Amino acid sequence: MPATIVVGAQWGDEGKGRVVDYFAERADYVVRYQGGNNAGHTIVVGDQRLALSLIPSGIHYPNCTPVIASGTVIDPAVLIAEMDMAASKGLDPSRIRVSTNAHLVMPYHRKLDAVIERFLGKNQIGTTKKGIGPAYTDKYSRFGIRVQDLFDPKIFAEKVHTALEDKNKILPRIYNTLPMDADEIIEEYLGYVERLRPHVEDTSLLLHRAINTGKEVLFEGAQGTLLDIDHGTYPFVTSSNPSAGGAIIGSGIGPKAIDEVIGVAKAYISRVGTGPFPTELHDDVGDKMIELGGEYGTVTGRRRRCGWLDLLALRYAVRVNSLTKVFLTKMDILSAFDTIKVATGYRSADDAFDEFPAQQSVLYHCEPVYEELPGWGEDITGVRRLDDLPKEARAYIEYVEAAIDTEVGWVSVGPERTQLIEL
Ligand code: GDP
Ligand code: IMO
Ligand code: MG
Repeated sequence: MPATIVVGAQWGDEGKGRVVDYFAERADYVVRYQGGNNAGHTIVVGDQRLALSLIPSGIHYPNCTPVIASGTVIDPAVLIAEMDMAASKGLDPSRIRVSTNAHLVMPYHRKLDAVIERFLGKNQIGTTKKGIGPAYTDKYSRFGIRVQDLFDPKIFAEKVHTALEDKNKILPRIYNTLPMDADEIIEEYLGYVERLRPHVEDTSLLLHRAINTGKEVLFEGAQGTLLDIDHGTYPFVTSSNPSAGGAIIGSGIGPKAIDEVIGVAKAYISRVGTGPFPTELHDDVGDKMIELGGEYGTVTGRRRRCGWLDLLALRYAVRVNSLTKVFLTKMDILSAFDTIKVATGYRSADDAFDEFPAQQSVLYHCEPVYEELPGWGEDITGVRRLDDLPKEARAYIEYVEAAIDTEVGWVSVGPERTQLIEL
């Protein structure tokens, strides 16, 4: 797998961190291409649990260089704290490369994220309040401040002043909150320069050279396809492109460089924050998925909404990302159910759908059409070979493969690194 994209095929939290950690053993580079510390990726090795937000999930392997590419937004205080956390766990953060072109999450972005959500009231997105949306808004408004600006203090100060000229009108007048002090922000951020300097480089060039010399490069998506700003359930999405196309733009490499695109999907589905969710369960079954699956946000601790696997959504992810294979996670959680449902279509008052609808209002008003499959009702967390899975579990995998016309290459049966089956 010379250049492989690993992308979330649902609404995030599919288990991308553990999947990337698994593939990273063979990788020379693991690249985060979009998002920021709204992401929370969990890796469990033995009884050690590592939760990462900005650092790519290749950090466990000394042979692997973690790269934070230009499509990301970086809160420098969070990155530095995360590097310190990694070091305290015996990992080596010195190899981390950070793009000169990545944008900075500034204190006014975090503040705006919070006040905008408050302002939206019942229409709020349920963001992580990490300032991600406002940071990307500034990027596209061309008010953004990039990592490279930190290394020219005069330019950096000018940019902060310019940005605050605008924000300090908006914050008090529209959001009824206090203006912010430019000098305080400048002093804080210039204080991060020496810590960041050894990590910063032209990561597009780095990756171009790596791919050209046959190195193995893994691109790690954050969030998921249905949270994509262009292809997700807008406006209940994140402000970047988690889907596979985002890896190209966000890393500064060309599309011909990519060999494989692996979609990560839970054997059921979850979502945090607001927005439509056709297969959401508001009953004991949903509660059981949440409890058994430990479905609480890595970043915000929020309870995740859970429901049965949505095959329309998964087929959509295959289409939008050109998925070559799917990695199905958390199969073990389904052991708790006598029968297992999968959504094969949607139905509304006067229509039926067998593809993920492009019209958002349909998603709100449709009911899923379910197929009910037999459960296996036994613990599978110790299984490591396909042949040792109960026949109902194998049938479930085959059913999914047929429905999405894409091979399931791996299933995981527990959070620990070794709890997976290569099919
Ligand atoms: P990510 O954001 O896509 O990396 O996913 P998260 O790490 O936020 O959420 C996935 C959660 O499920 C984490 O707590 C993982 O440790 C856990 N997990 C991943 N794979 C499995 C699995 O196969 N079984 C179980 N029980 N838990 C898993
Ligand atoms: P990982 O990488 C799940 C959701 C938020 C909210 C919406 C917008 O761990 O899968 P934002 O703060 O990005 O502006 O919030 O997106 N969201 C995630 N949901 N997993 C994530 O990341 C998410 N990152 C953002 O809950 O609904
Ligand atoms: Mg997560």
